[in-house]
Amino acid sequence: MMQTPHISCADYHTRTSYERGGLGGHHLDWGNQPALYKAYPGRDPVLLPQDTAFPQKGLWTVLAESGVPPKRTSWGLELLSGILGLTYGLTARAPHPGGDIYLRSVASAGALYPCEIYVAAPGMPGLESGLYHFSIARHGLTPLRTGDLSFAVAEALPGSGREAPGLTFFISAIYFRSAWKYRERSYRYHLLDTGHLLENLLLALKAQGLDASVFWDFDDATVNGLLGLDPQKEVCLTLCTVPGTGHSEARGDLPDLGQTVTGASRVAPRERGYPVVEQMHASGTVMPSPPEKVPAMVDRLGLVTGQWASIHPPDPRPGALGYADAVWKRRSRRNFVPSPMPKSALEALLYGLCARSEQKPPDQSRAACTGFWVGNAEGYDPGLYLLDAPSCSRTRVKTGMFTRKMAHTCLDQMWLAPAAVHFLFMSNLAVLDHAWGARGYRYAMMAAGRMGERLYLMATALGLGCCGIGAFYDTEAQALLGLNQDSRMLYLVAVGPVKGRNTG
Ligand SMILES: Cc1cc2nc3c(=O)[nH]c(=O)nc-3n(C[C@H](O)[C@H](O)[C@H](O)COP(=O)(O)O)c2cc1C
Repeated sequence: MMQTPHISCADYHTRTSYERGGLGGHHLDWGNQPALYKAYPGRDPVLLPQDTAFPQKGLWTVLAESGVPPKRTSWGLELLSGILGLTYGLTARAPHPGGDIYLRSVASAGALYPCEIYVAAPGMPGLESGLYHFSIARHGLTPLRTGDLSFAVAEALPGSGREAPGLTFFISAIYFRSAWKYRERSYRYHLLDTGHLLENLLLALKAQGLDASVFWDFDDATVNGLLGLDPQKEVCLTLCTVPGTGHSEARGDLPDLGQTVTGASRVAPRERGYPVVEQMHASGTVMPSPPEKVPAMVDRLGLVTGQWASIHPPDPRPGALGYADAVWKRRSRRNFVPSPMPKSALEALLYGLCARSEQKPPDQSRAACTGFWVGNAEGYDPGLYLLDAPSCSRTRVKTGMFTRKMAHTCLDQMWLAPAAVHFLFMSNLAVLDHAWGARGYRYAMMAAGRMGERLYLMATALGLGCCGIGAFYDTEAQALLGLNQDSRMLYLVAVGPVKGRNTG
């Protein structure tokens, strides 16, 4: 068998960079548009209860809820229905060149929704123990395997003797859904979108008093096999467990799920692969040994930092909307107006980005660093700032108005120019490669996506507009930010007042 060539984080990112004048035309083949919903012929989903009650909590309360002892140790279908609905539910109908589509509670590059969710649930009242695929269109769970699979999940996780989980959520991405439009660059979007979805899931679990752990590292082949994916077309990118009463005794090898299940990873009549995407994913399946010292990305970007200032907790409940309403009402809004962002709003955003989502955030969440470019915010001079999440502090690294130049850099999406603040996620790719190998790319991009989703929800709660931007000229962005040779911008999220909304 031919070996897949190994490529590094730096290789993949450089080979998929956009450069001005170098984009060429790419026509979307609407006749080959990927299906947005995964379907398993001959298998009907168990429908989940509708109209479930959602937690009435403030968004910042949920964001900062880590360290609270888990309040809930049992669950039922109604709870699971609410969690899945908040994580990946349908929230609006929108016109689309290929016909109307439903938008979801999570943002997704180009509304292509490459991600799927699977749930392994042992012993839940009203649901036979087993592995299920979340059918978004039907709001149901399609059975894929029966029995308590906790032992198989525990076996796929690093470290022997891992406690068998109760509930396990898996997030996968179907390559062609995003590759249809973004081609070689699509792996960036698979990972960013996964990060967005993971954050929505973690917040929904926390809001329900469930204590979740995220796993960025797992045995890829074992997990893809467990889920019945065709790994040429769909791969698991992260999983998240909730402690419970799963059983850890091995029950022998699990059977293959067969062609009807693996065949469901195909979503278009004429799919084509992009070797660089597959190579990058395959290169990241090598599990890295944890570095002795986790690199602090803020010090590795080549930016000269000034004095660090602490960010204080915001008012008890900033924003007009609570957590669940912010999720339901979240949308990408691009009609930014040149009004200042109130200081209290900016500080609430910064505080929310620093809030610890898990009791012990994994080291990998430090693979990307957050910056923010202030164009127009009360109490802040225009300029580029860096955020240090572990110490919840910020420092300024440059002064000046650059949001217009950044809009040019973002493929001339000029509606970005009046946005009050551009949040930026950056990483030193050589440091990623050195610390974690190619798998480091997954960590950095998913970490950036997670922060992106938080920004969307916080902006919605505060009555501000927000939009993620994955399309930019890469070396132009690097030069504009003044990053060193090995560092790059990974993702940008613009936030600010928009027409017709009140930041009150
Ligand atoms: C990773 C990512 C990249 C995105 N890049 C862009 C972009 O470059 N330009 C843009 O106008 N919107 C961009 N978006 C916004 C999506 O188009 C938007 O999320 C999608 O159309 C669904 O709409 P909704 O967010 O209102 O639900 C991006 C979103 C994500 C998550």
